[in-house]
Amino acid sequence: MNSSKIFITFRTKSFIRIMKLISFKNYHLLSDFAATEIANAIKDDPSLVLCMASGHTPVLTIELLVKKLTEEKIDYSQMKFLGLDEWVGLPPVNEGSCNYFFKTKLFEPLQLNASQCFLFNAMTNDLEAECKKMDAVIADNGGIDVMLVGIGMNGHIGFNEPGTSFSIHCHVAELDNSTKTVGQKYFKEETVLHQGITIGLGHLMDAKKVVLKADGKRKAEVIKKTVEGMVSKNFPASIMQNHNNGFVIVDEEAASLLSKPH
Ligand code: GLP
Repeated sequence: MNSSKIFITFRTKSFIRIMKLISFKNYHLLSDFAATEIANAIKDDPSLVLCMASGHTPVLTIELLVKKLTEEKIDYSQMKFLGLDEWVGLPPVNEGSCNYFFKTKLFEPLQLNASQCFLFNAMTNDLEAECKKMDAVIADNGGIDVMLVGIGMNGHIGFNEPGTSFSIHCHVAELDNSTKTVGQKYFKEETVLHQGITIGLGHLMDAKKVVLKADGKRKAEVIKKTVEGMVSKNFPASIMQNHNNGFVIVDEEAASLLSKPH
């Protein structure tokens, strides 16, 4: 265990559920921990169903995961991979799309078979059918085993925006203004963003293990609300307090506003 790691256990008011917070000195140690957890999970269960967010948060985790799987010769040929979300209307060739992110950073480096990879087609004119298709993929594969998610600046997970029901499955969401504005960072040119298609919080609650990762000062406020705030659909990430195998993993900067001791 790395000495820079603090392990704190939280209990919700009901004293039934436990969420764990793990803090690391920096983004590298944080990312390495997440990559090791995922690599070990695949080692233990080669047919693991893994769901991940794209965005800046998981970039190094994915890089390290590819390295570990390759160097340690871990068999990932039966693993199933699910992309958490996508911007509606964006083609997969758009470099800011989640499809492009996963294809270039994960699928190509690992040479994953197309039958292992499940991403939303956000170009379809039947988004409802696309949601049902992903719901069926999750059900047919026995649910999600491990989920690695990020957090938006309004507390969203995937495109589960504030106000979203904790029991919803795959759905299309109208994007918050903050999501549309912050989302511009993924694109070279200003891009019109209206809706997102996403795996829902109901699937997150059903997942066997959920890891929410956050780094940097800009995430300190939302991490404080996630860990210490009230559980409310107005702040989707607070759902982590209700998950019975939920982990919030952060670097020191993202943990900097948390009250101590917990
Ligand atoms: C985006 C995505 C989420 C992502 C989050 C944080 O809008 N919909 O899936 O986890 O916001 O992004 P980042 O990691 O770039 O901060």
